[in-house]
This record gives sequence, C-alpha cells and structure tokens, in this order.
Amino acid sequence: MSLDLLSSPAATKPWDDPASYWGAMTHALADVSGPVAAINADALRYNALDLVVRAGGVPIRVASKSVRVREVLDAVLALPGYRGILAFTLPEALWLAATHDDIVLGYPTADRGALAALTTDEAAASRITLMVDDLAQLDLVDAIAAPGSRPEIRVAIDADASWRAPGLGHIGVLRSPLHEAAEVASLARAIARRPGFRLVGLMMYEAQIAGQGDATGSGDAVIRWMQRRSGAELLDRRGAIVAALRDIAALDFVNGGGTGSLELTASDQAVTELTAGSGLLAGHLFDGYRAFDPAPAAAFALEVVRKPAADVATVLGGGWIASGPAVESRQPRAVWPPDLRTAPREGSGEVQTPLRGAAARRLRVGDRVWFRHAKSGELAERVERYHLVEGERLVGELATYRGEGKAFL
Ligand SMILES: Cc1ncc(COP(=O)(O)O)c(C=O)c1O
Repeated sequence: MSLDLLSSPAATKPWDDPASYWGAMTHALADVSGPVAAINADALRYNALDLVVRAGGVPIRVASKSVRVREVLDAVLALPGYRGILAFTLPEALWLAATHDDIVLGYPTADRGALAALTTDEAAASRITLMVDDLAQLDLVDAIAAPGSRPEIRVAIDADASWRAPGLGHIGVLRSPLHEAAEVASLARAIARRPGFRLVGLMMYEAQIAGQGDATGSGDAVIRWMQRRSGAELLDRRGAIVAALRDIAALDFVNGGGTGSLELTASDQAVTELTAGSGLLAGHLFDGYRAFDPAPAAAFALEVVRKPAADVATVLGGGWIASGPAVESRQPRAVWPPDLRTAPREGSGEVQTPLRGAAARRLRVGDRVWFRHAKSGELAERVERYHLVEGERLVGELATYRGEGKAFL
C-alpha cells in the first residue's frame, strides 16, 4: 500500500455526517485493539487539495512539524501545487535530505553535532537552507567548520512578521529580532560579506493571522480587526524588506504564511511561496476560521475500560495535550460519540479520562471514543503508526517519525 492523494477525491464530504464518518472509522479499525490513531485518506485528500485552491497558484512548502509522517509528506509533495519542506530540526532536515532536495529549516539551530554533519556533507549542504536572524548563528557554524574547509552554507533570514500595534504593543510570536527593513538589510549585508555563506531566502511568518482563528466564538470581532490592520501593515513592510534584500542578494524564495492565512499571504506580490502543514491532518485548533473548514483527517480512538457511575465512562489514555499555554483549547476534543465532556478536576488524564454526557450512559467497556488532537503534528509523537482508512476499510499503516525511531523534538 502507498498513500496516493492523486486518485479521485470522494464526491461527497463523508465527515459532514459525523455518525456515518466516525462509524466507518470504528468499523475499519474493529480488529485493531488498544489506543489507535488513524488517518482518513478521503479527508486528507480533501484538505491537501483545498490548501492548493486557497493558495491561488502560489506554491506551498509543507511544514513537516505539522505532519511528522514521511509517507504523508511524500504523498502531499507529489501533488501539483506543493514544493519543498519546511523542516523543524536540523537532524530531521539531514534525515529528509536523503530523499528530498529542497528543505528549509524553519527555525535557527544550535545543534553542534548536526551542524558538523551538515558541513561535511556536500549533498546535504546543497539541499538544506538554515534559518538565521543573528550573526551569532553564523559564528557557531564557523566555529564548527571554518569557511574554507566546508561547503557553502545556504541561509535564509527570518524577519519578524508580528504587528507593533499603536498603543497595544507586540502582537504575534516572539521570534526574530529583525523587524524593520533597515535591520533586515543590515544582517543581509553582513551575511553577503562573509565567506562560506550564501543568502538565498527570506521568511516572514505572520502567526497572529495564520495561527489565530477568527471564528472561534470568542472575541472574533477584535481578532478580525487586529488581523486586518496587521495584514495591511505587513503588506507594506514585507514589500520594503524584499525590495531592500533584492539589492543585496539574489533570493531564491520569499516564504510567508501558514494554514490560516493562505489567501491573504498569497495575495502579497512580494511572496514567492507559502507554508502550510496543519491544514492537512487538521488538529481541532484549525476549526475556528472563516476562510476554510478542514476535514478531521487525523484522529485517535481510546477504549472504555471502566464505568465509575452510570453516567460516566472512563477511557484508558487521553492526556495528549498540545504545546502552548495550558488552556482548554489545547486539550484533545472528544468527537464521537457526541457531547462527551471531561471532568473539570481531571481533564484529559495521564492514564485515564472519565467522560460525562448523555452518550456516556450508553458506552460499555470495550467501546471506542474518538478524539481529535488540538495540533496536527504532535499526535504523531504519541503513536508509532497511523492506520490508514478509506471509506470503511483499513487499507494500510503509515509509520510516524516516532515509529521510524526518530524523536526530533
Ligand atoms: C515558520 C513557520 N511557518 C509556517 C507555519 C505554519 O504552519 P502550519 O500551516 O502547520 O500552521 C509555522 C507554524 O508554526 C511556522 O512556525
């Protein structure tokens, strides 16, 4: 079995009928015991194609952190509209470079061992681009291997895409210190002067737009206002930064965006490629956006092991909480049977999760409850494989990074 996303997509959206969708998933996995994670091929195909439509012709680089399954990365990259990988650690990038030739590391690295490996591997050095926002990161490379003794290292600059809102201050993630065009250009000139490095790209990730739902039912009006203002500010600033950099270096790419901002980022003429990953497997944090409605492509099922009371069913497992602030939205969400809720004092437990709700009365020992993880890639760190489901059939297994013995982060 191999995952083929080019074959004909389902004519309907089976996930629009949750009883039949989750029923089919349960049926497909009836002979697999224990906690199981599954990918629904129709849902993944729909999501992958929908991202391409939303990107409006601008190529999409796949954020591997939001997938963490090699076969899924390969299947997505076989689709027209996708090009290259945004990796999350240098050891991962080196591993992927055996089979992929366009890998941008999305975050700076200080991994000395991996840098030593990169600087002694001509092929990997031609395939991997490091992300920098500080000359200290270049100094580290030079301390490991001096410029004349190693292949040229490809680097891209990460520039801050957050919004410095008048009166409100910093809105966005805290990443690159380089905000203004002059600051980015100054680092670019310094890189251009240094032997042993080649500046090939710029990345600006607008997390406050791409990673912030605007239809979550809480504070949406304020979020939409913020995103409109931030998007307008970014359009001007990114244009100025790209214009300044193009005078200094021949850029291969200007990368921007994420799953939640494809339409907006694609409309920026300064951008040559987008990034997306989360929208493929669709953690539930990506449910609350007006622009798109991803299918629940990845999910996990846990088994009821006890009934503490008539209206409570306890499943084994559950505490697969997503990274970020430890708030309600980071918890897995029970999606089938419907209307189950966790106990306020226990939440999703380390080993057991009691669930309440009308359906809990009907659940018996051995029944399954389906959950979605909040984030798209982190579920893969909990399981060695995803079971691949087509319709009502179990058609194969997809090894996660973990399942391949790789725990990168
Ligand atoms: C640098 C960068 N680009 C893009 C993204 C968007 O990825 P996704 O589509 O998986 O949300 C992220 C996510 O955190 C990121 O860190």
